[in-house]
Amino acid sequence: MKLSDNKATLSFSNGSPSVDLPVYQGSVGPDVIDIRKLYAQTGMFTYDPGFLSTAACQSAITYIDGDKGELLYRGYPIEQLATSCDFMETCYLLLYGNLPNVQEKVSFVKTIKDHTMVNEQMQFFLRGFRRDAHPMGIMTGLVGALSAFYHEGSDLNNQKRREIAEFQLISKMPTLVAMAYKYSIGQPYMYPKNHLSYAGNFLHMMFATPCEEYVVNPVMERALDRIFVLHADHEQNASTSTVRLCGSSGTNPFAAIAAGVACLWGPAHGGANEACLNMLEDIQRMGGVSKVGEFMTQVKDKNSGVKLMGFGHRVYKNYDPRAKLMQETCKEVLAELGLENDPLFKLAMALEKIALEDDYFVQRKLYPNVDFYSGIVQRAIGIPVSLFTAIFALARTVGWIAQLNEMIVDPEYKIGRPRQLFVGSTQRDVVPLEQR
Ligand code: SDX
Repeated sequence: MKLSDNKATLSFSNGSPSVDLPVYQGSVGPDVIDIRKLYAQTGMFTYDPGFLSTAACQSAITYIDGDKGELLYRGYPIEQLATSCDFMETCYLLLYGNLPNVQEKVSFVKTIKDHTMVNEQMQFFLRGFRRDAHPMGIMTGLVGALSAFYHEGSDLNNQKRREIAEFQLISKMPTLVAMAYKYSIGQPYMYPKNHLSYAGNFLHMMFATPCEEYVVNPVMERALDRIFVLHADHEQNASTSTVRLCGSSGTNPFAAIAAGVACLWGPAHGGANEACLNMLEDIQRMGGVSKVGEFMTQVKDKNSGVKLMGFGHRVYKNYDPRAKLMQETCKEVLAELGLENDPLFKLAMALEKIALEDDYFVQRKLYPNVDFYSGIVQRAIGIPVSLFTAIFALARTVGWIAQLNEMIVDPEYKIGRPRQLFVGSTQRDVVPLEQR
């Protein structure tokens, strides 16, 4: 970042001395006002619940232009990456800053394949869960538990050891998610088959059984790989900020990523794909497209607490480019399966059309986000609804790691410790129990 010749001057109507604050420019996007010395100079904090106007860090990984609906990973438009690259190339790009050449890709993919198995003891963690436990509850436990097995990766400040942990996390997430699924249906775990692609191996571990050969469907494989690419990173979203804040204490990478998994679970964030599919199924049960008007009335009624899941975004005030790509992937997968007339997909398209023409949504700039169509694709591939967010976590692990790494090597890195506006009781004395 570079110092702008523009300055911000904060003046006070009560005659307190004004304060000049430096302004910094990035390579693209909004400038920032550096308020780090504000408290020392004025004795006041800024106040920004939900961080609507707060840049928590400088980053070179992902850039989002919310007004234009643009998303760049290390400068490459998501549309180009999703159609011309695969998830392994995208992982390399997010971690190291550039797309790999042929040799770099071969070596990276081999390294990832070398870590796909998990310690045999890990399966005993699963036995502690009920068979109907939510996969995200299982994943929060399993990812944190990795630190109990892989000590070599547990030193956040040792670059070489941190790199081992990142390979282990990227490699083992598919294995763990597939194990959570197999456990829930009482089927035996399937070991990774490293001759398969990253997405193909995941499909194999999810749907193969020891009884017969499983052949990976190339259309599903490509669709899943694209879903991973679209979910890989997204600037300083809630779960990424959680990983950064958790990692800023110096804890191990497994614990920091487990915190990201826990945060992603929420329906306002990564849990929206599951909530969106459940919403579509509810509307379908009520009568489908004919009931959309009634549903929209509920959504626009503040007291109903009903939201159009998969719609709206803190940053995108235009169409989420990932939603467009997800819709295209939907069409490809449904066509491959002969499900062009899938009722839920038709219902989602009808909901989108109605919302985009409705003043409530237009005024608030609410558009489909990445979660609106992703559930329909995953359901068509045969993935259970409860596993959607675990797959989001699987894909986002590389983004969380890239952001964690960037924070650790940032010269401005220090433990995150926000302050508050205190509105509670001022000092008072304890009254003895019998007098209260
Ligand atoms: C992800 O941050 C990221 O980058 C996240 C993510 C990533 O890749 O990491 O992109 C992934 O989490 C996508 C978002 C998935 N969540 C959902 O689809 C859940 C539904 N969406 C909403 O909960 C909401 O839109 C949020 C949480 C996504 C954004 O919330 P904001 O930015 O705090 O916006 P807001 O709640 O202040 O909404 C502004 C207005 C409000 O109405 P008013 O008070 O102004 O009258 O829009 C309304 C909201 O009530 N609104 C919605 C709505 N989303 C916002 N009304 C109905 N349905 C919705 N979905």
